[in-house]
Amino acid sequence: MEFNLSPESPILLFDSGVGGLSVLGELRKVLPQAPVIYASDQAGLPYGTKTEAQIAARVSGLLGRMSERYRPRLVCIACNTASTIALGMVREVLEVPIVGTVPAIKPAAALSKSGVIGLLGTDATIRQAYVDNLEREFANGKLLLRHAAPGLVEAAEMKLRGGVVDQGVIASAVSGLRQQAQGEAIDTVVLACTHFPLLRDELEAGFGSDVTLIDGAEGIANRIADLTAGQEFSRSVPDMAITTGALAEFEGLRAAFSQYGIDALDRF
Ligand code: DGL
Repeated sequence: MEFNLSPESPILLFDSGVGGLSVLGELRKVLPQAPVIYASDQAGLPYGTKTEAQIAARVSGLLGRMSERYRPRLVCIACNTASTIALGMVREVLEVPIVGTVPAIKPAAALSKSGVIGLLGTDATIRQAYVDNLEREFANGKLLLRHAAPGLVEAAEMKLRGGVVDQGVIASAVSGLRQQAQGEAIDTVVLACTHFPLLRDELEAGFGSDVTLIDGAEGIANRIADLTAGQEFSRSVPDMAITTGALAEFEGLRAAFSQYGIDALDRF
């Protein structure tokens, strides 16, 4: 594949909504010259309340069609829900390298002093065996408390459209962890949904300064940089964001995309 790689070939970042922008922010720091297509499955948002079968079918179908159309050099599933469910399946059907997003349990466990770690994700993510396995492998001897916070997905989407973040949603995400047995001892929280780092300031205020919030965005960006090391990049056409939903509705995100260096919006 690399033999025919054009310098314009993009990195495709895929998420149900705007969550992947938290990954794009880190990617711009390590690969500012890389052309990017940001794909948002707004017609399928939210993933967190869907079944495993729905998510797997949707994500592999869309990524197959997007890869044919845009010929990316690499696909990043910038969504924990989609990755923990469909990463294996997508890797089986696509030839392009795929980078997934997995909950940052390993670094959180290494950092936690109290041994009590919180994890915020979607309903679908927190019930995955993928998360059980990470817990068993990296948080052995620690306590991992999980809480589903679908309201944060909606709040992040609103915030990037210029809306006001509902403080009640932040408070209920915090209390969903704090009110579990031993929840008061949480000193590290894994943001296991790419939407949540977009609410970092609000969540930091909610948890207080003695809690560290960890997400995987920087690690994912570094992984993409490693996998594309030595490749030529040229951003000769403007980076684009595409949506599976209505373009008129996507326009509400124009200013947010522009802050991440994306000035063209289109419908997939
Ligand atoms: N951004 C997605 C994630 O990382 C989830 C949002 C959704 O529920 O669609 O899990």
